[in-house]
Formats: sequence, C-alpha cells, structure tokens
Amino acid sequence: MREVLHTRPQAVPEEPTLEMIRQPIATPFAQFMERWDQAFQCDVHLVGAVGAHLHRAFGKRFRPTLLLLAARGFGTVREEAVLGAVVVELIHTATLIHDDSVDKSLVRRGLPTVNHVWNNDVAILMGDYLYSKAFSILVKQKMYEAMDLLADATHLMSQGELRQIEQKNRLDLTEAEYMRVIDEKTACLIAAGCHYGARSSGASSDVAEAMGRFGRSLGLAFQITDDIFDYLGTEQEMGKAGGSDLEGGKITLPLLTALRNASAADRGRMEEVIRNREFRNGQWPDVVRFVTENGGVAQSEERSAALAEHAESELRHIPDKAAREALHDAVRYAVTRRR
Ligand code: IPE
Ligand code: IPE
Ligand code: MG
Ligand code: MG
Repeated sequence: MREVLHTRPQAVPEEPTLEMIRQPIATPFAQFMERWDQAFQCDVHLVGAVGAHLHRAFGKRFRPTLLLLAARGFGTVREEAVLGAVVVELIHTATLIHDDSVDKSLVRRGLPTVNHVWNNDVAILMGDYLYSKAFSILVKQKMYEAMDLLADATHLMSQGELRQIEQKNRLDLTEAEYMRVIDEKTACLIAAGCHYGARSSGASSDVAEAMGRFGRSLGLAFQITDDIFDYLGTEQEMGKAGGSDLEGGKITLPLLTALRNASAADRGRMEEVIRNREFRNGQWPDVVRFVTENGGVAQSEERSAALAEHAESELRHIPDKAAREALHDAVRYAVTRRR
C-alpha cells in the first residue's frame, strides 16, 4: 500500500449513511435486490459464478438508490422503477468490469476483480452479458422511455471511455476536456436514472428533466470525489487501489489543477516525474504532496461542493418530503463518503 500523506478526519456520526438514505425506499430496494439476483440465473455455470462473486463484492448501489428515490418523490414506486433500478446497476456493473479489465485493476470493492479472479476474456464477455441483459429487460417489459434514456447514456459512457483513452497522458488537458469525459463516463448514467425514476411515477417531462439535471450535477460531483480519493484514499478505505489514475495515464482534476497553479519550476519538475514514470519508484508521496500543496485537492473539493449545491437546487420540485430529504442526504453522501 502507498504511503498516505494527507489523512482525512474520521467520519462524524451525522454524515448520512446509505441505510439512512434508503429508508423511504426500503421495500422497493429489497425488491431490487431480489430482481438483481434473477438477472444472473442462467444455465452457463460461469454466469452464476461471476454473479455469486458480485453478490459478495457488492458496491454502494448508489444509482438504483437514486432512481428509486426519484420515483418515490413523485408517488408510489412502481414495478418499472424497480426494473429500471436493476437495469441501471447492470449497466454500471458492466462498465466497472470492463473498466477494470482495461485498467488491469486487481482489486474492486475489497475483493479481486473479475479480470483477476478469471481473466480478460471472461471480463469482456461478462460485461457484454450484463449490458445485453439490461437492454433485454427493457425490451421485454416494453419500457421504451427507459430504453431511450439508457441507450443514450450507455452510448455516451462508451464514448467517454474512448475519449479518455485518446486523452491519455496529456498533461496539458484542460478542465473543460476533463469535465466532458466525466460527464460522459459517469454523470450521464446517473442523470438518466434520476430522470427515468421521476417519469416512472408520472412526473411531467419538465420536472423529470430537472431530476436529470440533478443527477448530472450529482454525478459530476461524485466522480470528482472519486478522483480526489485516487490521490488521498487508501486501498483499505476505498476497496480499490489508489494512485491508479496516474498509473493508467488518466489526468484528473486534482492533478491538472495543481499543474496549472504550480510555479513553472515546480510544474516542470513534476511533469518530468510523471513522464519518466518516477512515481512508480517511490515518488508517489511527492506527487500527492505536489497535488495537495498546489491546491489540487482543495479546489477540486470546492468544485464538487459547488456542483453538489447546484444538484440540491433542482430538488425543490419533489412533492414527497421524505424522498426529497433523502436525496439531499444522498448529495451530501456523494461528497463526504469514504468509499
Ligand atoms: C465507481 O462507481 C466508478 C465511478 C463512477 C467513480 P461507484 O463508486 O458507484 O462504485 P460501486 O458500485 O459503489 O463499487
Ligand atoms: C469511472 O471512473 C469509470 C466508469 C464510469 C466505469 P474511474 O476509472 O475513476 O473508476 P474507478 O476509480 O476505477 O472505480
Ligand atoms: Mg478504473
Ligand atoms: Mg477512480
């Protein structure tokens, strides 16, 4: 594990937990979990085995939580919302399995990745299985509006992942270029889930679009938080390796901000460390110090806090108080979480 230079204060009890956030959707969330397991019922042994692995290596299930809360905000949570939640999590999981295979990551959610337990072939094909399962559910259930929203989001996610590859190792990356990638690879899916959740309970197009904007700002804040973790977090906290963005050539907001702020001399030195990949030979703590001391962390936190605030401003249309408050908590959770 890498040395940690900047430790964060311990969680304070009033920070929202996922359990608290999910209180207004306890029943539909349990239905979501049941339906999730059904998606892995298949006579191919490998599918069940990967399903069992994912059952143990579960994530935050943040996207289904948001979709169900968006639905709850406008009425009773219907069957379509529960299926929409499954579909969103299937798409997300497929993306993670592919992302880990592309990034050659060994650990995710505190356990070995699919590419590590099995291999890249299994990761590629299992990702495809999950994507196709997601869309086959939508077609079978005739959920055409969800399909419209989620097909677009999935397409944009692949576009974002490819754009990210194209921008690999570009130390002159602009903030706008960075924001575009995280919008595509992360925010679009969260936006589509929130939009659809509201629609599934009969919200008007205008109001559902506001929920989409909520999800988009929240998604951007969520990814910036993840990108800060990659510099500050420990593998033990995050359940995945730190430092992997730079390792994989991903130039994210904390680093590009610090590079922009640093003096020409410091910047030149750091660019050399990065180009020569010296951060692999014990210089990682220097990179973390550079990013922290040049405002990369503080300014990224400000950026994600501003986006979180914008997200919250879109919640005023939600009639149900419990769901609305839970979504406010979800925003705080996204930017204060530790994994
Ligand atoms: C990880 O997403 C990928 C990002 C968009 C940062 P999550 O942090 O939601 O991953 P899990 O599902 O909880 O593991
Ligand atoms: C999220 O970005 C990627 C996806 C949307 C799949 P990251 O590359 O930062 O995700 P992690 O950190 O590996 O979870
Ligand atoms: Mg990754
Ligand atoms: Mg990351």
